[in-house]
Amino acid sequence: MSWVTKTLSSTLGRKLIMALTGLFLILFLTGHVSGNLLLFKGDGGEAFNIYAKFMTTNPAVKLLSYLTYISVIAHVIYSIILTQMNKSARPVGYSESKASTNSTWSSRNMGVLGTIILIFLVVHLQGFWAQMHWGEIPTVTYEGEEYKDLYLIVSEAFKQEWLVALYVISMGFLGYHLSHGFSSAFQTLGLNHKKYTPAIKTIGKLYCIVVPVLFASMPLYIYFTS
Ligand code: HEM
Repeated sequence: MSWVTKTLSSTLGRKLIMALTGLFLILFLTGHVSGNLLLFKGDGGEAFNIYAKFMTTNPAVKLLSYLTYISVIAHVIYSIILTQMNKSARPVGYSESKASTNSTWSSRNMGVLGTIILIFLVVHLQGFWAQMHWGEIPTVTYEGEEYKDLYLIVSEAFKQEWLVALYVISMGFLGYHLSHGFSSAFQTLGLNHKKYTPAIKTIGKLYCIVVPVLFASMPLYIYFTS
């Protein structure tokens, strides 16, 4: 067995993959939420449509997209493997465990939170991403160049109450998932520094509130202004 296969099949290796893919997805979400802020621009979707075309056609961004898909898949698969390993290592729980005092709610429910986010992601990708890539989307022309009107798809979608509710509720779960995931990834990577760790923790706490709130505000804004 090569050292790569050995590392990837050890518990630490699996945890490392969870941490690295998780941190990469955190970076992806930062870019995604920033780009989507163009939905608030009030220009009928021009800037958003131009941005969406760039994101789906630029070769460097395409490479990052493939890394994102691989990270999502690896993150899900390794979370299942680690959960199964934990279960078989301790088929009967600790007799005197006081889970609620020893750990946070989100840390004990990462699997449930992750599953809810995965369901959200399937609905989300089917509604927007699959439409952008393979759907029959109306086009618009800006300065002589043709663009898919993804803004129309997004703004029509967020006229549906059930979808707005699904997005807002899912973002609550995303916040909890991130709140444990962020600190857990840093712990796995052993990144502990007297000076920087408190600052990283504060950034982490802010991140898992600001990013889900911004995402949730998009469907709400479109619903209440359309
Ligand atoms: C209101 C919030 C959101 C809006 C309006 C939105 C919008 C979009 C749109 C329009 C696309 C297709 C365009 C493209 O492929 O670049 C897309 C792709 C995607 N979204 Fe979102 N998104 C939101 C939240 C989220 C969240 C919370 C996640 C993850 C938990 C997420 C994950 C993804 C992924 C993985 C893709 C595919 C990206 C790629 O192909 O590189 N999105 N989103």
